[in-house]
Amino acid sequence: MKFWAILPAAGIGRRMGSSTPKQYHSICGTPVLIHSINRLLEIPEIEHLVVVLHPKDQYWPAFNFSNERVSTVTGGEERVNSVINGLQSLSGQANASDWILVHDAVRPCVTQSDIKNLMSQLKESKVGGLLGAPIDNTVKQLSDDNEIELTVDRSQLWSALTPQMFRFDLLKRSLSNAVSINLNVTDEASAIEAMGFKPIIVPGDKSNIKITHDSDLELARYYLSIGGKT
Ligand code: C5P
Repeated sequence: MKFWAILPAAGIGRRMGSSTPKQYHSICGTPVLIHSINRLLEIPEIEHLVVVLHPKDQYWPAFNFSNERVSTVTGGEERVNSVINGLQSLSGQANASDWILVHDAVRPCVTQSDIKNLMSQLKESKVGGLLGAPIDNTVKQLSDDNEIELTVDRSQLWSALTPQMFRFDLLKRSLSNAVSINLNVTDEASAIEAMGFKPIIVPGDKSNIKITHDSDLELARYYLSIGGKT
């Protein structure tokens, strides 16, 4: 049984309000996407990594990035379509029960120990799972007028992080099912859950932030400058 990785990097970073997509911002002299790729390449058990790029990506070619364990494919309209394209490119190489790790290109601070933990804790599982972190803040549900309607019990609430690790065949079937029933999925686990399965959360480090807004870049710079736990 082998491990493969897909890095969806075909987003345009609408929420950051910058013309440069967030995966191409530089941190400590290296683009976010390259940091993320390197974090996964540090894991020798990962056979190959597929980076999914926007059809009009103008940044990647300038890096002249070359590594025999890395290939690229073109992404789709939504994250789910990008991941499906990544999976298609692995058909013929990956077996049905091989593990696929899907990692957001905009999470450059993931630690080597968290990735290894995820892989070792789930490798005997039938379904798979993901890194996650408990929610610390009190959570409020608002009305359209920003009035609090409900304080949600946070004791069982967790944030879904990446990598998310599922078996090749189940992931392929679950994502196609989500697309065919028009289910809006923002991570792989949601698609697996919609098939009636129960992914497992493996606790991960909170430094594994998703770069979404400008201020996240500063935080990521800090985590990367202190080296992160490896
Ligand atoms: O938009 P969001 O923050 O959920 O994006 C998470 C990851 O999915 C990012 O790395 C982004 O580049 C990627 N993505 C993609 N294809 C899309 C939309 C997002 O690969 N169509």
